[in-house]
Amino acid sequence: METELHEDCEKLLFSAEEIASGTRSVAALLDEAYRGTTPVAVCVLKGAVFFFCDLLRAMRTPAEIEFLRASSYRRGATSGTLYVDDALSFEPRGRDILLVEDIVDSGKTLRSLKASLLERGAKSVKTVTLLDKPSARKVSFEVDYKVFDVGAGFVVGYGMDYAEKYRNLPYIALLKPAIYGG
Ligand code: PRP
Repeated sequence: METELHEDCEKLLFSAEEIASGTRSVAALLDEAYRGTTPVAVCVLKGAVFFFCDLLRAMRTPAEIEFLRASSYRRGATSGTLYVDDALSFEPRGRDILLVEDIVDSGKTLRSLKASLLERGAKSVKTVTLLDKPSARKVSFEVDYKVFDVGAGFVVGYGMDYAEKYRNLPYIALLKPAIYGG
């Protein structure tokens, strides 16, 4: 199906169909990895929300689902101080945990969340992201599973925002630099 691009976007990166198909492939890999276990899948709000729902429904593994809040951009385009609400609503001790993200940029969010869960006694912590932007890393971090790699540019849609806008676009696109002053 032809994607009608929002006027603030300059280029379509991944259509809804490509996202769905890539998500199914990663779900199959995760089913294999978690065979015979009941992991806790944790959605890192807000950006991962749509990927999380689609990924979990594509998996056959009987996962539990939990949510936590991490935010570093705070309405701007530049990554700032990481804010993590780590008042967990679940007990990580002894559990196999799957952290689900929309994008890994500097690597700070997932690195910090993973370390914190392991410190609290998680049995294992794996990470999965819809998008990986290796060129933006500020700390050393390698994600276990990813759907797509992306290059430079401000990415929006399918959960990802600029100043809280564009999250509910069904596709992933590059935002026009004029919109974010890039
Ligand atoms: C985005 C994204 C990741 C994080 C990745 O969240 O959802 O959580 O940034 O960046 P990093 O690798 O540099 O840490 P954001 O802070 O924009 O909050 P949001 O998910 O609510 O949009």
